[in-house]
Amino acid sequence: MSFMQINDLKVLYPVRGGFFNTIIDHVYAVDGITMEFERGKAYGLVGESGCGKSTTGKALIGLEKITSGSIIYEGENVTNKRRSRKSSFNRDVQMIFQDAHSSLNPRKRVKDIIAEPIRNFLKLTPKEEERKISELLEIVGMPEDAKFKYPHEFSGGQKQRLGIARAIATNPKLIIADEPVSALDLSVQAQVLNFMKDIQNEFGLSYLFISHDLGVVKHMCDYISIMYKGRFVETGTKEDIYTNPQHIYTKRLLSAIPKVSPIGREDRKRERIRVEQNYQAQYKNYFDENERVFDLTPISNTHAVATTSTKKGVI
Ligand SMILES: Nc1ncnc2c1ncn2[C@@H]1O[C@H](COP(=O)(O)OP(=O)(O)OP(=O)(O)O)[C@@H](O)[C@H]1O
Ligand SMILES: [Mg+2]
Repeated sequence: MSFMQINDLKVLYPVRGGFFNTIIDHVYAVDGITMEFERGKAYGLVGESGCGKSTTGKALIGLEKITSGSIIYEGENVTNKRRSRKSSFNRDVQMIFQDAHSSLNPRKRVKDIIAEPIRNFLKLTPKEEERKISELLEIVGMPEDAKFKYPHEFSGGQKQRLGIARAIATNPKLIIADEPVSALDLSVQAQVLNFMKDIQNEFGLSYLFISHDLGVVKHMCDYISIMYKGRFVETGTKEDIYTNPQHIYTKRLLSAIPKVSPIGREDRKRERIRVEQNYQAQYKNYFDENERVFDLTPISNTHAVATTSTKKGVI
């Protein structure tokens, strides 16, 4: 059973222009997406820069205004209620930001940064709060004395861990992680990702894992949605997407993953060229005349593809 459903979510940004700086058009940053979240599962949101991933994440936690659609959380419509500071939704759904540095207040000590959600949502005595903060620092593998330091005294990976400590402080059900490791060195990336997996198992967390990196998503996620221009082109389990991709855009993304090993490099290059030719040839089966992605059509219990060609039996 899912604990949260997003239905046909849209976020439009006004585009202003002309002599009077009036609204002349809209950017459809998120253009009708539907998702469900189950406990303990990780969901990947993948797509190229500007396709609407961060806007989706921010709209979910209430940092971006939702134009239409709904968010149902534990059976309650919370679409326009996410800003009330003490709601259980705000306690249960937390976000880790791409840029840990700018998401940690530079003028506050670590203990006050981590304490912020605790003070908002949990009624603890100062002593209990102190203990809780030490416990969280231990969970993310930071020394006790980190409490009294300021964010600039930490490395990128350590700051990301502090962001995670803050996000898990209130025992959330869902963490939205927007490119949580893309600013980090490869070696530190693996450390932080493995650590996120460990706490997922330990606390039964769900993730919405936002990334442009299909390799990272494959490592982290059970379900994956591929996004293009504010819409989903394909959704499915990890296996559906990686072993049986259907949409030409998904195939194109997969064929573009760089491989370290030189073995089969020529084959992969030929495959990439073939996928690109198919992409050009089949474009009209997958995008309408305004280049908008078609609605998703289910092709199995878990797998859905945005195409008109399923109806025509092309796939
Ligand atoms: N405040 C804003 N006003 C107007 N347009 C915006 C605003 N924020 C984002 N956009 C536009 O909305 C679209 C989606 O942006 P978003 O930041 O969600 O993309 P993204 O998928 O997170 O990209 P990236 O991978 O580069 O982080 C883009 O076309 C962007 O230019
Ligand atoms: Mg983004």
